[in-house]
Amino acid sequence: MACLPRDARAGLAAPPRRLPPKYFYDARGSALFEEITRLPEYYLTRTERAILERVADDLIAELTPRALVEYGSGSASKTRVLLDAMHARGLLEAYGAVEVSEAALLASARALAARYPALELEGVLADFERPLTLPFADRPRLILLLGSTVGNFAREEAIDFLERVRDLMTPADGFLIGFDLVKEPARLLSAYNDPAGVTARFNLNVLRVLNRELRGDLRPADFEHVAVYDEEAARIEMYLTAKRPVVARLRSIDLELRLDEGERILTELSHKYTPESARALVAGAGLDLVRWDTDADADFALGLARLPS
Ligand SMILES: C[S@@+](CC[C@H](N)C(=O)[O-])C[C@H]1O[C@@H](n2cnc3c(N)ncnc32)[C@H](O)[C@@H]1O
Repeated sequence: MACLPRDARAGLAAPPRRLPPKYFYDARGSALFEEITRLPEYYLTRTERAILERVADDLIAELTPRALVEYGSGSASKTRVLLDAMHARGLLEAYGAVEVSEAALLASARALAARYPALELEGVLADFERPLTLPFADRPRLILLLGSTVGNFAREEAIDFLERVRDLMTPADGFLIGFDLVKEPARLLSAYNDPAGVTARFNLNVLRVLNRELRGDLRPADFEHVAVYDEEAARIEMYLTAKRPVVARLRSIDLELRLDEGERILTELSHKYTPESARALVAGAGLDLVRWDTDADADFALGLARLPS
């Protein structure tokens, strides 16, 4: 499992302060993420779903997988498009998910068991940044990393992660990755700064997680959500910025936090890709990008990676 005491100590004790995004996702964080996916400004989820709806049958015909295995599955709602396509071709046997959010894992498993009663289900409650094995290696699998989750890794970490997936793949497997694409900064910024304030609540939720898990006394009202776009690095950076001087304690790890007004904690990176940078990333991990599907506006893409033949 993830190790919040270690990551909080390493990331928060001194500037530049940062926390890995996996700590957003307690039950409330997962519910807030689902709310984000329904916001009008958050084009990512509906665009990825539309691409999946267009290509699912073709993809399944090409790969003939008998199992889907998904990293960071969340509600797995888009996954159903692929499960339906497998079911329609008589291929659907098994679904496995690797998730750090217990609430999301249980809710999605219940929903999938109700929808596909014969499905073999395996949920792995784990941090996918740690070494792990993947279920259903005895049959062709379609492995998924959807929702632009790949964008949350720094570039080197993304390569390390894809290499670990590659090492778990067999020649029969395909690995489908959802990439959010570089576009007009104003559209990117509005996707991460919604006027309803849902993304702000999601970002601030990590302070509640710290308070609960590490016996802290951080006050969410002392911080504001800030999302900026770094054009050179092609990434959204999400911060919690101190609105006033902050003194707080995380008693479980005996850490006192002192932040000046305006000091910030980096809580998420979301890298945006071009077809070239996505191809280079996949190649950098020793995989071949064998298929690339986008929507008509090239807002989002699904790249299919396989072991080199
Ligand atoms: C951006 S959301 C995407 C959710 C879903 N796949 C989608 O496309 O809507 C990222 C998901 O990955 C999970 N997650 C994030 N970091 C993780 C980690 N290190 N290990 C396992 N799951 C993680 C989160 O709990 C969350 O459900």
